Amino acid sequence: MARRKPPNTPPPFPSAPGEMEAAFVSAETAPEQPFSGVQKTSRTKKAAAAKKQTPQGGKAPLMIHLDNITKKFNSHTVLDNVTLQVPKGKTTVVIGGSGHGKSTLLRLIVGFIRPESGRLWIDGVNVLDLDEAGRLEVQKTIGMSFQYSALFDSMNVFENLAFPLREHTRLDEAEISRRVSATLTRLGLPGIEAKFPSELSGGMKKRVGVARAIMLQPKIMLFDEPESGLDPINTNAIGELIMEMRDDFHITCLVISHNIENSMMIADSICMLYKGKIIAQGTPEEIRQDPNPVLQQFLHGQAHGPF
Ligand SMILES: Nc1ncnc2c1ncn2[C@@H]1O[C@H](COP(=O)(O)OP(=O)(O)OP(=O)(O)O)[C@@H](O)[C@H]1O
Ligand SMILES: [Mg+2]
Repeated sequence: MARRKPPNTPPPFPSAPGEMEAAFVSAETAPEQPFSGVQKTSRTKKAAAAKKQTPQGGKAPLMIHLDNITKKFNSHTVLDNVTLQVPKGKTTVVIGGSGHGKSTLLRLIVGFIRPESGRLWIDGVNVLDLDEAGRLEVQKTIGMSFQYSALFDSMNVFENLAFPLREHTRLDEAEISRRVSATLTRLGLPGIEAKFPSELSGGMKKRVGVARAIMLQPKIMLFDEPESGLDPINTNAIGELIMEMRDDFHITCLVISHNIENSMMIADSICMLYKGKIIAQGTPEEIRQDPNPVLQQFLHGQAHGPF
């Protein structure tokens, strides 16, 4: 589907993952341009040196590769031998019912939790073998938009968005201000810098959460249900933003979604997680035609069936 760009689109947001949990992101030097990437540090080089060959053969390079990952909470197996390959610069959407392990998958990729077994590569780095410092280096390259937007309640919108820039860059106040304002405008929220999270609607909080996640120019963006709480127009706008990240900034996006129409629009590849297993994966067209009855029931939202 052709992507529409609104007229007079400001330069896309500045950079980095942010969020209560995602305050891990850090760029030790100020990025000069939006999405210009974060300068490598010596620890980054060490992480690069820890790279190991992923078993991906001659296929497109992978940004994220889960190999037989199993995650349990007590005796409950939430991810059951999941193998998932997310190609660089593409958008992969994970669909699936409530409680089937989607958020757990993202939390595991970003490093908040560890699996019981399996292997995980992020941009060729075997992250489960890294020490704490190495893991932090990898985390700095990942932005996460959480399912529940997790803003700092005691800070206004400006401070929430400026936080990752202040923590991890040396940008001056004027540049921070410009970037915060450009990012808010891009997300359809111009001029709300002074508002506190308690003064925002659910959908506005969601978009401010997305804004904070992209302030540091991540190379991977993880979105946990980016459309939840948004009206159809803002749902479409988030979809366009995700496509813009891929097309104009080559960011690899992994998106959890319940919105089938939006998923079909934004995805290069869709996979379905069902009871902790990936039961189908393919292009939107392949997924539409896949005969798996569980998948088809989910796609069509039918109340009765094998799901
Ligand atoms: N920290 C935790 N401790 C114990 N159980 C957990 C924990 N996190 C998740 N779970 C369990 O793992 C299962 C999957 O949870 P998860 O949040 O990944 O689901 P989900 O697919 O994201 O669902 P939803 O669409 O409702 O967000 C659920 O049964 C949940 O109760
Ligand atoms: Mg979830």
